[in-house]
Amino acid sequence: MISLDKKFENLFLNVSIQAALSSYYLIGKKNKQAADKAAVDTMRSELNKIDMKGKIVIGEGELDKAPMLYIGEKLGTMSGPELDIAVDPLEGTNFVANNLPGALSVISLANKSNLFSAPETYMNKISTNILDKDVIDLDFPLKKNINNLAEYKNKKPENLTACILDRPRHKHIIEQLINLRVKLKLITDGDISGALLVTDEKFGVDIFLGIGGGPEGVLAASALDAYNCNFQGRFLFETDEDKSRASKMGIKDFNKKYELNEIISGDSIFCATGITSGDLVSGIEIHEDEFISETLITHKSTGLKKIIKTKQKF
Ligand code: FBP
Repeated sequence: MISLDKKFENLFLNVSIQAALSSYYLIGKKNKQAADKAAVDTMRSELNKIDMKGKIVIGEGELDKAPMLYIGEKLGTMSGPELDIAVDPLEGTNFVANNLPGALSVISLANKSNLFSAPETYMNKISTNILDKDVIDLDFPLKKNINNLAEYKNKKPENLTACILDRPRHKHIIEQLINLRVKLKLITDGDISGALLVTDEKFGVDIFLGIGGGPEGVLAASALDAYNCNFQGRFLFETDEDKSRASKMGIKDFNKKYELNEIISGDSIFCATGITSGDLVSGIEIHEDEFISETLITHKSTGLKKIIKTKQKF
């Protein structure tokens, strides 16, 4: 594995913090677009200061849809290592617009060609902290996954918790989980965070599942890799336009189930900074001449997995 230089931990930590701070000023202003734009602009200008040949593989969309941080955009000073970068400058636009818990600025990087590049579509996903094959699988019936999970964890189904986005498209899954007596953790948005709740027993989530954003799936996978957790995802290319965009990005099998190591491989660094406080990290706090931030950071090759709290002067 070619390790990423440790200096990138601090450089990308700073990118993530600055993007979060920019969105912070839009909390509770009922303006999702402005909050997103603030984070995007800042993330982009901070990334451009870094000595690297960076390429966005997961971003705000394709060039025709997103003028900044679009998929394929080259960033950095163009001297230094070639890096793949996945970004979600504002994960949880509703959270910031409505002053609700759980908004994050998220970024992840890997060496060139080690992070999956995907168009903006939905993805069916599943994550647990179980690496053993054949226990949990996106293609198993839900009942089988829950029974296997219960047996593996030596818990009754009523003592298991499943995290899922609260959406009408999940009505059937939610009903089945209730019938199986599994406890629900329904989230209104923010499924990067949802997928990461399996990383630590303290969150009390045994399985995350359901359909959410594909880019969010790729970002979650890069942190889950550092935690030695499992993730599988299948993109949902529904329209001809979706399929043609995917083809242009080299995706041939529209129905493929991606294993975690097909989404992210080699070394990687992941940063998620809180904008509003949530399950993973606290939000930005502003005092007179300084601000406090919390970032969950992981670095696969060094084993770093921690929350970094910073106090910075303006
Ligand atoms: P935004 O921050 O882009 O609004 O995304 C929030 C989010 O909840 C994601 O975490 C999730 O993957 C996606 O939206 C789900 O999409 P939808 O709201 O269409 O179900």
